[in-house]
Formats: sequence, C-alpha cells, structure tokens
Amino acid sequence: MNMDVLVSLSKRRGFVFQSSEIYGGTGSCWDYGPLGVELKNNIKRVWWRDFVQARADMVGIDASILMHPTVWKASGHLDHFTDPMVDCRECRRRFRDDQVDALAWTHYCAATKGNKFTIPAGEPCGHCGQRRTLCPECGKGELTAPRQFNLMFKTFMGPVEEDAAVTYLRPETAQAMFVNFDNVLQSMRLKLPFGIAQAGRSFRNEITPGNFIFRTREFEQMEIEFFVNPNDRVEGRPADEYWHDRWIEDCMAWFKRYGLREENLRLREHARDELAHYAKRTVDIEYNFPIGWSELMGIANRTDFDLKQHAKWSGKSLTYFDEERKEHVVPFVVEPAAGVDRALLAFMADAYREEEVRGEKRVVLRLHPELAPLKVAVLPLLKKRDDIVRAAHEIRATLARQWRVVYDDTAAIGRLYRRQDEVGTPYCVTVDVQTIGDAERGERGDGRATIRERDSMEQIRVPIPEMPAVFRELLDGGAWQQVAGRYPPARG
Ligand code: GAP
Repeated sequence: MNMDVLVSLSKRRGFVFQSSEIYGGTGSCWDYGPLGVELKNNIKRVWWRDFVQARADMVGIDASILMHPTVWKASGHLDHFTDPMVDCRECRRRFRDDQVDALAWTHYCAATKGNKFTIPAGEPCGHCGQRRTLCPECGKGELTAPRQFNLMFKTFMGPVEEDAAVTYLRPETAQAMFVNFDNVLQSMRLKLPFGIAQAGRSFRNEITPGNFIFRTREFEQMEIEFFVNPNDRVEGRPADEYWHDRWIEDCMAWFKRYGLREENLRLREHARDELAHYAKRTVDIEYNFPIGWSELMGIANRTDFDLKQHAKWSGKSLTYFDEERKEHVVPFVVEPAAGVDRALLAFMADAYREEEVRGEKRVVLRLHPELAPLKVAVLPLLKKRDDIVRAAHEIRATLARQWRVVYDDTAAIGRLYRRQDEVGTPYCVTVDVQTIGDAERGERGDGRATIRERDSMEQIRVPIPEMPAVFRELLDGGAWQQVAGRYPPARG
C-alpha cells in the first residue's frame, strides 16, 4: 500500500490535516481532525487501560513538558542527543550526514550540456559516470563539513531571554518518570517490580522529518519505565533480563490484539555498536510501513543509568530499600517506549483494504472496533419521513451516551455505507418503513432496526430497546456471529 493513499484518505475524511495548511503548512507538523482525534484518543485509552489500569504493578503520571534544564544534562541529552548534519552552502538545506547518500540526487551533467537529471540514491550518473559530491537537493551547492546538531528545542522560561533562563521542550516523556521515582515510590508505597507510565507530547528538532506522521518534530509517546530489583532472579534469570523479554512479548501481543497482522510485525535486536549510551540491550518492534520496515516502538534495558545520573546531579538519593536483604539498591529499568502517531499510522495502514463487492470497489478500514473513531452510524432509509428520521435521531442519542455515534442522511444508503466503511465504522443502524410502519396504509412497524456489520456486511433485525445491550456486547469484544445468531437476518 502506498503512503499517498493514506495521506489522501486522512485529509479527505478528517483524520489528519497538514498543520497551518492555509499558510502553506508548517514543516512536518500535522493536525488531527475530527476522526483522527478519536482514533488517537482510542489508541491511548486502550494502551492506558491494558498497561496501567488492568495491572496491579503499574501506576501513571502526567508530568509537565518543561522540566528543570539540569534534567537534560543528567540524562545525557545535552551532550549526546545530537545528529551529525551538513548544510548546503547554496540552498541552505540541511541533511543528516549519514543519510545524504540514501537520497536521490540532482545532477547537472556536463556530458549532456548541463542537462538536469534526478539520479537514484547511491548510483552514478549514467552519462558522465560522476558520483554525487554536491547538495542532493539543488545539485549546485557544496556541503559543509559535518557538525553535531542537538535535536532539543530550546526556549526561555520567564520574561527574560537570557542564558540563565534557557530550558528545553522535552524530547522524551521518560525523564519525568525518573525524576519522580521517589515521589511515586513514597506516595504509593510500591514494592519492586513496578512501573510508571505516561502518555504525552515530545519534541525533537529532527533534521530529516517526513513520511507523513512517521517522523515529525512534535509527536506523542506512550512510555513505561518498569523498575526491577537487579539482585532478584525470576525463573532462574536476572530480573531485568526476564522482565525485558516479558515486555517485548506483551507489547508485541498488544499490537496484534488490536489488529496488526503478524506478517507485518517483526523484532529487531540492536547491534552492540548501535546501542544508546544508557542501554544494556534494546529490541525494536518493527512494522512493515508503506515506507518499508521501520521502528514502531523500542524496548530498552536502561539499567540503573538514569536513576544514578539524577541522584548524582540532584544530590538526592534515588534508591529502593530491599527489606529482605536489608540494603538500599538502585533499581534497573526496562523501558517500553511507543509513539502514538506511529502506532496510528500502522493501525491505519494495516486496516486499509480495497475490495470488490458486486463489481464495485469498496474501500474499508478494518479497524479494531475499540480503535474505530466512530462506533455506530445511524442512517434513516427515507429522510422524507419525519417519523423515521425522529426514530433514527432517538437511537443515536441513546447510543451516544456510551459511544461515539453519528447520524447521517446526506446521501443514498449505499453511499452512506461506503462512507462509513472507508473510516472504519464497525456498525451501521438503518431505520426503515418496516421499523415504523405506515399509518396511512394501516401497517404497524415491527419496532426493529437493521444492524449492518462492516466486514461481513451481514445485516440483522434487532428490537430498538435491545440496541444498547447488543452494542455493549459487540463493542466489549463479543463475536458478531454469536450476536447475529440470535436475531433474524434483514431482508435484501
Ligand atoms: N525514551 C526512549 C525513547 O524516546 P525513542 O526510540 O527515541 O526512545 C520511542 O522513541 C518511540 O517514539 C519511537 O519508537 C517512535 O515510535 C516514537 N518517536 C520517536 N521519535 C519520533 C518522531 N520524530 N516522530 C514520531 N514518532 C517518534
């Protein structure tokens, strides 16, 4: 599947818009529209429910984005969170030094009277045999020698723009869990192992952002810092190694549970020379994005690096008292770190299908019902009949007390179904003459409305008063076949 298809669907149907589009857009910033915000909130909600609420060994925090600047000295971000970059002296574009050769390059070929060519990445010119030496974008400027560029956004705290007021927008949510370690430990009276979770915004002045919402400068993360006693053993293994593998399994299972297909997921072990300065071992969960296999999330064993660093720089003890051994220990930490935007992109890409139904193309987002932005769409079959429209509005209002439910009567029924399929709405309810009856003809309605399931397109007739219970069952994970077996199929 092609990224352009997703970008276009996202814009057309209100998932994702380019930020400040009417001013020409802001580099690599995106706005979530009415359906995008629902999808994004649903991803964060199920993540929080499954990894925080449902677990006895997890708690959450919501920390401020601006932190004490020393946090970033202690964490190593001020010194190490850099990319080597080169600038074009002509067009002033900036590239990551290690990625320039991975770009297609512009070439004005002397052997063809200076004609302009775009040559695939890493290949020489087919006419003159020359390899790229100049700026890949403009093809004219020389590139500067590589310089280290810090990816943190700098800003000033307070009214004065002076060195003493410099602070940074956080480049990861993780550090707030470390600096709050003791607050959480004491206030919640926790015992190791336990984890602290947070979902929130992070900012990185990426040199080469791009690929839609895959790499942006402002994004959201869902991170867990899971603290373990390094002296403990679980199932005969050091506790940190045991829990690292457990979290890898749990995260992988989570993505599959919400719809990512097994064949589109894989694990990638970081090589020794690639490990971050704090990590003993890191494993990425990669997804087969429209741009190819890329990192969806990382699960790192950060050892005791962060707690020790913050203890050193703050002068505060960040230890845990091991009652059994009667000693203070600095916990090790396992960190499952996921990106919300990247997860959203993966869920959309995996759900996108083009199918043929009775000779016509149907685009359907087979999103997991828990993630789908809209759960139910209520559609009147005849919008000229006030009683049908009224009943449809009443059903919507009743169901909307519990779920995101919409009413739509702006097209014929076939079109309305296709619109809902395209945004992944798992169920549609239609109200028709059979529901209400026809007073003029003396026909009584049966008081049932039709529920149509998105994937099978099967339809059943359900009494209106039973709708909330039926949707509760379906949206809580009940199988369609089970529910459908209890009700008569709808005609035609
Ligand atoms: N605390 C560890 C940490 O931040 P990371 O691998 O740099 O680790 C974790 O980030 C996740 O955050 C990534 O796997 C990715 O999903 C997401 N992420 C990182 N940078 C991003 C960016 N520029 N745009 C979108 N998502 C990003």
